[in-house]
Amino acid sequence: MTPRSLSSALILGALYAASAGAQGAPDGKQISTQGANGAPACMTCHGARGEGNPAGGFPQLAGMGGPYLEEQLEAMANGSRVSPIMAATAKALDPAQRKAVAEYYASLPSTVDTDKLAATAMHPVAPSDTGAWLATRGAWDKNVPACNQCHGPGGIGVGANFPVLAGQPAAYIAGQLRAWQQGQRPPGPLGLMPAVATRLSSAEIDAVSAYYAGLPKTADQLAAQANTTAGAKQ
Ligand code: HEC
Ligand code: HEC
Repeated sequence: MTPRSLSSALILGALYAASAGAQGAPDGKQISTQGANGAPACMTCHGARGEGNPAGGFPQLAGMGGPYLEEQLEAMANGSRVSPIMAATAKALDPAQRKAVAEYYASLPSTVDTDKLAATAMHPVAPSDTGAWLATRGAWDKNVPACNQCHGPGGIGVGANFPVLAGQPAAYIAGQLRAWQQGQRPPGPLGLMPAVATRLSSAEIDAVSAYYAGLPKTADQLAAQANTTAGAKQ
């Protein structure tokens, strides 16, 4: 080996070690803050705590199931989940990197106030309030259970399989429901969501998406009202 080829081999080796991380496994946190293989840093869109960005339409990732996030990255990489904005990023990561970054986001605490949100499910709802009614009661005339029944009271998410809806951008929620209507997202566990989404009208999709997007604010208002009422009684 000439000195020059030896030194380039050393440089390649060093680069490989840096990209693979000290333990040889990819570092999910590093991918989120710096990107990898030309994929941009996730935090520029999904936020420093994985909290998402409603104004930009970027969903929260923090605290979701690791296998769920990994499956979504896989689906966006292979095109079965159509996402013009995520496809190149998901494809740039190799499977070990997708797993590592998914596990990193799963390990972050959810950024929604689960207690306050869950309390919203106790408030009375008028049937004319389409979004809130679908979320808390469903539409039994067409076999649509209440969204909260699977996604938890206040849409806070349940376990690893039922993702959080509260506070996700309205355009994002509506986009996912329409993707299931149009076969642009894999059916997921037991095909539960295509069954729900294909039974919703366009107006219902808009209403329920706006409801969940606005729920953190609604939850704050209801909590403040409850405090005022409690104060007045004393
Ligand atoms: C340019 C902004 C941008 C960057 C950078 C970005 N994302 Fe995304 N991401 C989005 C958008 C927008 C969506 C919603 C998908 C859609 O609407 O098609 C999304 C969706 C996702 C989802 C699906 C979430 C769900 O609830 O199903 C995952 C997982 C994800 N991104 C992970 C990542 C990871 C990991 C990185 C970094 C390697 C990353 N994203 C970088 C914009 C971005
Ligand atoms: C019978 C259970 C069930 C019901 C009822 C249900 N969901 Fe879901 N939902 C799921 C499951 C499971 C997933 C995860 C799908 C996957 O892994 O691809 C999901 C995922 C979603 C997602 C994607 C979230 C993300 O981060 O990308 C949205 C949006 C959604 N549901 C909205 C709703 C709405 C709105 C309703 C009520 C009209 C509803 N769901 C009712 C089980 C349910």
